[in-house]
Amino acid sequence: MLSLKFLPFNVSSLQKAIVFWRSLSPIRKSRRTTERAIAAFHYYEELSRLDIKQMKRSYMKIGRSHKRIGYDIGYTIKLERLEEVTKVNSVITSKIAKMALDGLEGIVLQYPTGDDLRNVRESLRHLIRDWSSEGAQERSVIFRSILETLSQVDESQRNGIKVLVPGSGLGRLAWEIGEMGFDTSANELSPFMNIAFRFLLSPDETPAVSYHSLHPFAHWFSHQRSNTTLFRSISFPDALPRLSGFFRLLEGDFLQLATPEKYDYVVTQFFIDTSLNIISTLEQIHRLLRPGGVWINLGPLLWTGGAQAALELSLEEVHSLADKVGFEVDPRSRKIIDCEYTADKEAMMKWIYRAEFWTAKKRKHSD
Ligand SMILES: C[S@@+](CC[C@H](N)C(=O)[O-])C[C@H]1O[C@@H](n2cnc3c(N)ncnc32)[C@H](O)[C@@H]1O
Repeated sequence: MLSLKFLPFNVSSLQKAIVFWRSLSPIRKSRRTTERAIAAFHYYEELSRLDIKQMKRSYMKIGRSHKRIGYDIGYTIKLERLEEVTKVNSVITSKIAKMALDGLEGIVLQYPTGDDLRNVRESLRHLIRDWSSEGAQERSVIFRSILETLSQVDESQRNGIKVLVPGSGLGRLAWEIGEMGFDTSANELSPFMNIAFRFLLSPDETPAVSYHSLHPFAHWFSHQRSNTTLFRSISFPDALPRLSGFFRLLEGDFLQLATPEKYDYVVTQFFIDTSLNIISTLEQIHRLLRPGGVWINLGPLLWTGGAQAALELSLEEVHSLADKVGFEVDPRSRKIIDCEYTADKEAMMKWIYRAEFWTAKKRKHSD
C-alpha cells in the first residue's frame, strides 16, 4: 500500500481531535463522517496525485545511472500510467461525491486525511468484489453456505420472512438474499460504503449492467506480476441492484437500530469482529430476532487492535458468550471456510482466512 505522509499529526493534536470527537452528538458525528467521506471521494484524484508526486520524488533521489535503468525498463512510464488511470477512476469518485452532495445542504468539504483516501480506495475494491464478474469466484465461496441455509426455506414462504444483514458493506450479499425472495434489509454504518452503494442503486447514475469501469488495483504496486495486471480495467456492475419494498438499505449504526419488527434471520458476514464491544453486538442480534429466529454467521475474528475493542475473544469464548446471551449454536452447522476477502486474484500472494460458519437459534424463552 502507498504511504500518505502529507498530513502530519502530532500526539497532542491527535488527543485534542479525539476529545473534540467524543464531545459531538451522534447526529453531528454522523454528519461529519458523511462530509469526510464525500470530501474523500471528491478529492480522490488530487490526493492520489500527491502520493504519486511522492513516488516520483523517491525515484528521482536515486543516482543517474539507476534512473537511466529505471527509465529503460519503463518505470517512469508506469508512474505516468498510474496518473492516467487515477484520472479515469476519478470519473467514478467525482460522480459518487456529486450524487451524495446533491441531497445535502450547507456542506463544507474539508481536505481529507490519508486514512480517508485509503477508505475510498478500499470502497472501490469492495465495489469490484461485490459487483463485477471479477469478484464472482470470491463471492461464491463466502456466500455459498449462507445462501444454502436460507434456500431451505420454502420459496412460497419467503416473502413473509424478514432478513437483516448488518455491516452489509457494498450490499451484494443482502441483495442476493432479496433476489431469493426474502424481505431483506441491509444495514451499514460507513458512509464510504453507503454513498458508493447508493451510486449503484440509482437508475440515473447506473442505468445498465457494465455501465462503469474502474482500475481498482492500480494503487497496490506490491505482488503484481505485470503492469497489465496492475492497471487492468474492470467493468461493473454485473447485476443491477435497486431498492424496493422488499429490499431496503438502513444507513446507520446497527447498535442503534430500533426497528419495531423482529427479524426471522440476522446474517453477519465478516462483521462481528468489527465490534468495539462484542457483547453489545450479540445482545443486539438477539434483541432484533424473534424467538426461534436464526443468526447465521461467517467470518474470522480479526479484532480491531490497539485496545480499541473492549474484548478480543477466542472462538470458544464467542460461543460461550452466544450461549449466555440466549443462543443455541447448532454444532452440526459449524464448518471452516477457507476464503479470501477483496483479493486481487492476479496477485503474487494470497491471504486466506479460515473463516468460521455457524447458525444459532434464539432460545424461545430468552427475551
Ligand atoms: C469487514 S466489513 C464486511 C462487509 C460485508 N459484510 C462483506 O462481507 O463484504 C465490516 C462492515 O461492517 C460495517 N460496520 C461496522 N460496525 C458497524 C455498525 N455498528 N453498524 C453497521 N455497520 C457496521 C463496516 O462499516 C464495514 O462495512
